Amino acid sequence: MKQKWEIQNPGGMNRVIVTARLIGSRWLKILTDAGCRVEVYQSGSPASRNEIDDALGQSCDGVIGQLKENWNRELLTRLKTAKGRVYSNCAVGYNNVDMASATELGIPVGNTPGVLTQATAELAVALAFAVARRIPEADAIVRGDRFSGWHLDLLLGDLFGRRTLGVVGAGRIGSAFAKMMVEGHRMNLIYFGRKMNERLETSLAAWNKYLTATDEQPVSFRRAETLEELLKESDVVSLHTALNESTHHLIDGSKLALMKKNAILINVSRGPVIDERALVEHCRRNPEFRAGLDVYEDEPALKPGLRELPNVVLLPHIGSATFWTREAMSTIAARNVAAVLSGYPVWKGEDVEIFLGEDPPKAVPSIVNAKELGL
Ligand code: GLV
Repeated sequence: MKQKWEIQNPGGMNRVIVTARLIGSRWLKILTDAGCRVEVYQSGSPASRNEIDDALGQSCDGVIGQLKENWNRELLTRLKTAKGRVYSNCAVGYNNVDMASATELGIPVGNTPGVLTQATAELAVALAFAVARRIPEADAIVRGDRFSGWHLDLLLGDLFGRRTLGVVGAGRIGSAFAKMMVEGHRMNLIYFGRKMNERLETSLAAWNKYLTATDEQPVSFRRAETLEELLKESDVVSLHTALNESTHHLIDGSKLALMKKNAILINVSRGPVIDERALVEHCRRNPEFRAGLDVYEDEPALKPGLRELPNVVLLPHIGSATFWTREAMSTIAARNVAAVLSGYPVWKGEDVEIFLGEDPPKAVPSIVNAKELGL
């Protein structure tokens, strides 16, 4: 029978378990070069809770895990009991990890920011266009042999140029998406976030100078004082917040009711940011309202009725799914674990792309609870 966990570098002094095969081969070399014995789960889907529990055994120095796994207090305690010194998600989000418990147990938690910004923002653009220009319906017409030639009124959709984009959460991904839509497609921008995004505003101001110099109409951009204001005024609303207590069901029935009847809602962040039942109800009652979703409240399950709605486009959580990106995420996750086990300090810089190079700094790229742990 095929072994479920494939062992690499069996003589390595630190034992690291990797709960799903990562992308490319660089991540494995990083771990083995750092003297780790690496045990990699071999099935197509990540290891189950029990399989992880078994694999942790008596002694496991570090783990690279997946978003699908629930790293709750119990599992983190198991890791601690096995003398675990580090856990890294192979993702930027870490809502699957009980951070308070990890910090209390003294376990550094790694993530992979930065390297997936471009891919996720591009996917949000693709999803917005798929909704506005009805791409899935169009594809189905041709495949279904229902294409009878050019028609003036076939699949009329929406234009983005000069319409208003509302970006909720203008962090790395939100602001990259905003720039793509404003600079590339001449949308006007309203964004909502905890504070003003100076970098974004400076860059859009420079863009406006260019537009003015080339006799084009400048775009408008501003930070909204309230989420409500953004929702009322935007033609397209895109969600880019992290999931936490304050963003759970941020978009509920009452917020949907504020939006324009024919608005488009895009979500590439986390499913529970939207009350999915309320969204199903809203889309049923308002056939002109449309949504594009890459993430779901009870992933991979969908709330009843969502799948049947004609006014939604549904993707299977592929925001960061390009080969380059997933290989980079795998590399950063491996560097997080290898560097903690090598006793390196945590990187203080913002940009972790430097860790993709051949000669990276002797530091841990990204530990979410570094400050709390005094690292
Ligand atoms: C993907 O959703 C991630 O958080 O990396």
